[in-house]
Amino acid sequence: TASEPLVLSEKSSSGKVIILRLNRPKALNALSSPLFDQLNIELEKADADESVGAIVLTGSDKAFAAGADIKEMKDKDFATTYKNNFLGTWTRIGAIRKPIIGAVSGFALGGGCELAMSLDMLLCTPGATFGQPEITLGIIPGAGGTQRLTGLIGKPRAMEMVLANRKIDGKTAEAWGLVSRCVAEGEDVVAEAVKIGDRIAGYGAVAVQAGKEAVNGSLELPLEQGLRLERRLFQSLFATKDQKEGMSAFAEKRKPVWSHL
Ligand code: HXC
Repeated sequence: TASEPLVLSEKSSSGKVIILRLNRPKALNALSSPLFDQLNIELEKADADESVGAIVLTGSDKAFAAGADIKEMKDKDFATTYKNNFLGTWTRIGAIRKPIIGAVSGFALGGGCELAMSLDMLLCTPGATFGQPEITLGIIPGAGGTQRLTGLIGKPRAMEMVLANRKIDGKTAEAWGLVSRCVAEGEDVVAEAVKIGDRIAGYGAVAVQAGKEAVNGSLELPLEQGLRLERRLFQSLFATKDQKEGMSAFAEKRKPVWSHL
């Protein structure tokens, strides 16, 4: 119904992982501007929630997301897309500090594939379909489908997906390095993603945030600067209680109790 939220939010049974579900089933979760605005709001809420250690983002069995909303884009012109910064809000996800784990079933096409690639970790089902079909619409990917995809799978494969509309299934996505794991047939991909989220939530939040920041730095910085960022973040963690606790616990052969400070 029209009153159904475009993004559903629930907590995992541990209470430490927020599960966000794209919820526009009739349009295969096409990423309309209202849906993306709602997603940003939910992500920012989860990021600010102290009880949450990680976020899982998923869609339905049939579609993670079938792309940006073609019907919304159809009649747009340059001046309005430029003035209104169309799709500009898609980068807000990059400012989320907590890890986001994508759980992809079904279609992850166009903007759906790009949204998936902007997350920190990806799991998928064997039946997942990844593709960048923009060329069939007379356009090209506009939210990372030429940049992130090439970094993940290499130039020849990215060219084939972007220029020849090659679609790949979950096992291929795993073999090519687009996802960290394709779960077994019948396995619950969201449950597997939540397990990873719970593991992450069991570590010190400051170190987790620093690890995410440092890994992401590798995509943006020349090696020397990336190594410096990593070293500074590493050094700064010696100012945390969690570092004292983690190392003391190891020396005392007990489990650490993180204060996340
Ligand atoms: C708007 C969409 C949509 C989309 C599906 N729908 N994808 N609406 N934008 N991206 C709608 C259909 O119009 C249809 O609505 C309903 O969802 C069900 O889709 P069907 O086509 O009937 O389902 P099926 O036959 O199972 O085919 C599934 C499909 C096909 C192969 C995924 O829907 C498809 O090719 N979709 C478009 C995929 C695509 O080109 N994505 C890239 C978009 S461009 P009705 O009302 O008819 O029932 C893009 C650019 C990103 O993402 C740029 C930067 C972000």
